[in-house]
Amino acid sequence: MQIFIATCINNFTILLMMSARNISLQMALLLVAISFYCVADGLENGLARTPPMGWMPFERFRCMTDCARFPRDCISETLIKRTAELLISGGYAAVGYQYVIIDDCWMEASRDETTHELLPSLERFPTGMSSLGDYIHSLGLKFGLYHDIGEKTCMFRGPGAARHFDLDAQTFANWGVDYVKMDGCYASDADLDRGYPAFGRALNRTGRPIVYSCSWPFYKSQPDYSIISQHCNLWRFAEDVKDSLTSVTNIMTRFSSIQNLLTAHSGPGRWNDPDMLVLGNFRLSYDASRLQMAIWAVLAAPLIMTNDLETVRPEVKELLQNRDIVAIDQDPLGLSGKKILQWRNIQVWARPVRPVNDYGESSFAVAFVNLGGFGVCPLCPQTFHVLLSRLGLQSSMGYWVVDLFNKNHSLGFFKPKDKFITRVNPEGVTFYKFTVGHSY
Ligand SMILES: *[C@@H]1O[C@H](CO)[C@@H](O)[C@H](O)[C@H]1NC(C)=O
Repeated sequence: MQIFIATCINNFTILLMMSARNISLQMALLLVAISFYCVADGLENGLARTPPMGWMPFERFRCMTDCARFPRDCISETLIKRTAELLISGGYAAVGYQYVIIDDCWMEASRDETTHELLPSLERFPTGMSSLGDYIHSLGLKFGLYHDIGEKTCMFRGPGAARHFDLDAQTFANWGVDYVKMDGCYASDADLDRGYPAFGRALNRTGRPIVYSCSWPFYKSQPDYSIISQHCNLWRFAEDVKDSLTSVTNIMTRFSSIQNLLTAHSGPGRWNDPDMLVLGNFRLSYDASRLQMAIWAVLAAPLIMTNDLETVRPEVKELLQNRDIVAIDQDPLGLSGKKILQWRNIQVWARPVRPVNDYGESSFAVAFVNLGGFGVCPLCPQTFHVLLSRLGLQSSMGYWVVDLFNKNHSLGFFKPKDKFITRVNPEGVTFYKFTVGHSY
C-alpha cells in the first residue's frame, strides 16, 4: 500500500513538472494519472495471500506432443486429467497443492481465422479447455494456463498475446482459468514493460479472479521489482529450474545475490518465484530433494511441482507432503527468508514465522545447508556449531526447537547465548523450527 501511494505521488509530481506550461493539458494528464495509476494499477485482486501451490508439466514433460508414440508423456488432456485425479487420490490436494497449470505447447499454431481466439490443440485437447476446466473444478481444484506476452510462445508452438490482450484474457475467463503463467519470449524490452501491466488490467476487466504469474523480470537486465510487484502475484527472477542440484543451488545463489531487493517487494499477494519443485524426478538425491523443499519453504516460494505423480517414490512423496514444511512455506506472516550466514561450504537460511510473542518477537525456520566440496572429506556429513544470537535469534524468552523433517524429534530449549549444533549430510540440509518462548 505504501509503495502504491508513493507511485501515485511520484507520477503526480512528474506530471506536474512536465506540463507546467499548459494548465489544461496539465489537468487532463492529472485525470489520466489519477485513473490510470491510482485506480487501475496496483495488483489488488485479493489472490495468492500465501504462495500458490500446484503442479505444472514443463520441466518434466517439456513440449512432448507425440501422443502416438508417447501417450503417457505428451502434453494432453489425458496427462492433465490423470494428474488432477492423482492430486486428489494421492493426498496432495489435502496438503494444499491445488492449481493444475498447463504450460507451453497446448495451442494450435494459429488463432481461429474468424474470431481470432486462441485454439487448444484439437488432437491433444479434443474436448476443449472449457470442459477440461470444468473437470478440474469438479474435483475441487483450480485451473491454470500458459501464455506469452509477445508474438509467439517460447517453444514457438502458438501465437503470443500481442495485440490480443482483451480477447485472450476474456477467452481465459470464459474457459474458467484461475491462474495465468505469462511468459516473456518474442517481446522487446518496451513490450515487456508495457505488456505485463496491460495484460494484468485486461485480466482484471474480465471480472474473474485470476492469479497472474509473470516471467517479466527474467527477461530484463535491470528489473524494477517495485513496479513488477504492483502488477503480478508472482514473478520469475531466475532461469528455468532443471532436474539437478546444481540448478537448485544456482537459483539459490541468484536469490541470495539480490535478496534484499527481492524480499523488499514480496509478501501476501506478491511472491518471488524461484521456479518449480523438481523433486520426484530423476536426478535429485534424497538429501537434495530435502534441500529444495526446505529452501523453497524459507523463500516463501510458490510450491509448484513438476513431476509424474504416478511414479513419485514414497519417500519423496512424503517430503512433498510434509505438512510442517508446507506450513512454513504458507506462513501467514508472508515474510520471505534469506541466506543469513555462510561459513566455508555451510550456508544458513532463515525465515521469520509465526508464532510471534507479546514482545513482537517471531519464531524462525532455519535451514543449514551443506554444499559439500570442502575440506579433507568434501562429501561427508559436516558438523556445524553456532550461537543462536549469531543467527539473529535474540529473544530472552528463548526458543523450543523441533526438526521439521521429523517433528517428533524435539531438540529442547535454547537461549540466545546457547550453542546450537547440527550435523548436515553432504549436498543436504537440516531444517528446524525455533518457536519463540512464551507470552504469545
Ligand atoms: C480489479 O481491480 C480492482 C482495483 O484494484 C480490484 O478492487 C478488483 O478486486 C479487481 N478485480 C479482479 C477480478 O481482479
